[in-house]
Amino acid sequence: MGTAWVAVSGCTDATKTSTAAPCCDAPPEDTSAPPDRRPDTGTTGSEPSDTGPQDDSGQPGDTGEPVADCTIQSDQEGPFYTADAPNRADLIEADMPGVPIVIRGQIIDAVDCATPRAGAVLDVWHADEAGEYDNVGFELRGQVTCDAEGRFELRTIRPGRYPARPVEHIHFKIWASAGAEVELITSQIYFEGDPSHDPSVHFGPVIALDGSGTGEALFAV
Ligand SMILES: [Fe+2]
Repeated sequence: MGTAWVAVSGCTDATKTSTAAPCCDAPPEDTSAPPDRRPDTGTTGSEPSDTGPQDDSGQPGDTGEPVADCTIQSDQEGPFYTADAPNRADLIEADMPGVPIVIRGQIIDAVDCATPRAGAVLDVWHADEAGEYDNVGFELRGQVTCDAEGRFELRTIRPGRYPARPVEHIHFKIWASAGAEVELITSQIYFEGDPSHDPSVHFGPVIALDGSGTGEALFAV
C-alpha cells in the first residue's frame, strides 16, 4: 500500500440492481418524499438507531462461496441511498465546512484475500458536518472506480453525527464494476477511536486516520 495512489473515475450505470440479500434488520424502504436535507431522527422513514446484531445474509458465504477471514462485514443501508451518484473521488465542494479526510484503499476478492477487484466501484454517501443528508442532490455522494489494482482514493470530510446514530459513519456499496449491475456488499465505514463506535452493533470496517486525516482500507468482498 506504499505506492502512489491514483484517483480515477468511471462511468455511471443507471440500471444497477443489487444481487445481495438485504439485511434482515435493514430499515423499511422510505417511500415518502424526503425533504431536501434532514438528519436521521429515529422516526418513520429515517435511519434507525443501532439496536443489536444483524443478519449477515448477503455475505459471500451465504451463497456457498468460500469465505476468507479477510471478508468485511455488511451493515445496514439506511434510507438515504441515492442511485447514480456522480463519478468522482473528491466529494469536497467549494466552501464546504468540515474536516477533510482521505481514505486510500484497495478492494480485493475475499475468496483468496489477494486478487484485486480491478474496476470495482466504491459508491459512498454520508452526512455533512451538521449530521444532515442531502436527499435531493448529490452532496457528499459519489462513486469511485478502482484502478487495475483495485485501488481507490476518496477525499471527503469527516461525517457528522446525528441523534439517532451518533457514531461517525460513511455508508458505502461496492459494485463489481461500473455497469456490471452486481452489488458485492452494502456496509459502513467507521473510525478508530470514536467513542460512539460499538462493534456489537456496528459491523462495517473501522479505519484509523493519522494526524493528517488520512487512513488506509483493505476491503475484501
Ligand atoms: Fe447514516
